[in-house]
Amino acid sequence: MALCKRRGFIFQASDIYGGINGFWDYGPLGAQLKKNLREAWWQDVVMHPCGGALGPDGKPVEIVPLDTCIIQHPRVWVASGHTDTFNDPMVDCRETKARYRYDHVSMYVPADGRNTDKPFFAFVADTPSEGRQRKKAEKAFGEVKVAALGSIEPARWARVLAPDAEKVGSLTEPRAFNLMFKTYVGATATEDDIAYLRPETAQGIFIHFKNVVDSTRIKIPFGIAQTGKAFRNEVTPRNFTFRSREFEQMEIEFFCHPEQARDWYAFWSDSRVAWWKSIGLSSESLRVRVQGKDELAHYAKNGAGTSDIEYRFPFTAPDFGEIEGVAHRADFDLATHQKHSNAKLEYFDTDRGELLPNGSRKGERYLPHVIEPSAGLDRGVLAVLCEAYTEDASRPSPELLKLHPRLAPIKAGIFPLVNKDGMPEVAEKLYADVSSKLRHVGFVEHDAKQSIGKRYARMDEAGCPYCFTIDGTTLKDQTVTVRDRDTGQQERIAIDRVVGHLAEKLGTPGSRG
Ligand code: GAP
Repeated sequence: MALCKRRGFIFQASDIYGGINGFWDYGPLGAQLKKNLREAWWQDVVMHPCGGALGPDGKPVEIVPLDTCIIQHPRVWVASGHTDTFNDPMVDCRETKARYRYDHVSMYVPADGRNTDKPFFAFVADTPSEGRQRKKAEKAFGEVKVAALGSIEPARWARVLAPDAEKVGSLTEPRAFNLMFKTYVGATATEDDIAYLRPETAQGIFIHFKNVVDSTRIKIPFGIAQTGKAFRNEVTPRNFTFRSREFEQMEIEFFCHPEQARDWYAFWSDSRVAWWKSIGLSSESLRVRVQGKDELAHYAKNGAGTSDIEYRFPFTAPDFGEIEGVAHRADFDLATHQKHSNAKLEYFDTDRGELLPNGSRKGERYLPHVIEPSAGLDRGVLAVLCEAYTEDASRPSPELLKLHPRLAPIKAGIFPLVNKDGMPEVAEKLYADVSSKLRHVGFVEHDAKQSIGKRYARMDEAGCPYCFTIDGTTLKDQTVTVRDRDTGQQERIAIDRVVGHLAEKLGTPGSRG
């Protein structure tokens, strides 16, 4: 977090006013890193779906893009189930006015389970209350163990000492809290004008399923993809950007015939894990976890299941945290929107049904099933940053970011070894050349101040994969050194090879053409 702030990756939103809990802003390097990750997803999902791999039907995967509004008709959220079921159970502390997610509150109790009239010391894991309450509990009981708040009978609820309270019994009974942010549309701001900020981008896609089918020549199976902001009034936002109240999603709703849904579910689970690996997350830190029946979201209850793609974040280790969910939503969404809107959302499949004498098919009308790979962009950025973060005391910078070159915000640094003897002029010329040809793929930095070690250190911290340095030899034989960030090794190449070398390493065309 300190590196992210120091180098301008991520800042607390409203920083100079003390911040606002659950909201994060991206600085210059972070904004570019986030854009690069979104762009990598867009290229590999919309422009070249799954890198050209064939789907389980043996045909290329078809995906079209969409961009829908954050605010939709409130009936969308009634139909989708969010108005009724998008809730977290919460408890309030009457004394401190703090609010906690019921399932996040644990307690220290006597290790031997003995009955005592001393308080149960409640805390939220990974917050200062954990250590404070442990100390108090150890003083009261000696050896302690952790129990979930929900594990005690309501009759003993009055014995709980809330995380920051002075007196026992201040926690309320748990009650449901809807996670959608409310706002008003129009100037009158009455109850009738209430609208919600979308809690997922997915619903905008379902609403336009028919419009997309009717306005393009696309046929099932196909997917619709969109990226965009989603908002959830999370009860306990935490772990940096991991659980935020405003975040960005990258979602695909893939529509297929019900009989093909299981094959597509398996295909997308595999394909999405492969994608996260392709942008630099290591196999050891990734896993796919099939959700238990009791965990399934309301929309996934009728499907074949949901697989979470999880990353071992430093704050979850040795456990893992979700970065993407691949859900088999069956026909939940199209069926519910069809019912609530009265619009016919069935698909007429001319490739199915009885074979007619003229060689065509009779056709089959059905509600497609949906497989949904839904990724979090901010969680993706956080996973990429955690994976890249490396400590190495022997390096010019003891902290560095080994970002995948495709994602690195700064692609190259260009330096004169010293700021004299004609080197700055050569460096400036090279910088102008590389910048004009490769700036469209990322930032190129030119820096002539401070020692070369310090300049390399700054680039390492920013995750810049390659540095080119003009030295005394350059002036004699027109070669420069190329330093590889990950190994610290240097090699010499001809100065007129720099653009080609960099383009090759970044896997990008050398110029805008
Ligand atoms: N349309 C399905 C859906 O929204 P989800 O599992 O609730 O499913 C999908 O969210 C992804 O969005 C998650 O895997 C996660 O990466 C991201 N996400 C969800 N809530 C988040 C939050 N509060 N902060 C940051 N990212 C979040």
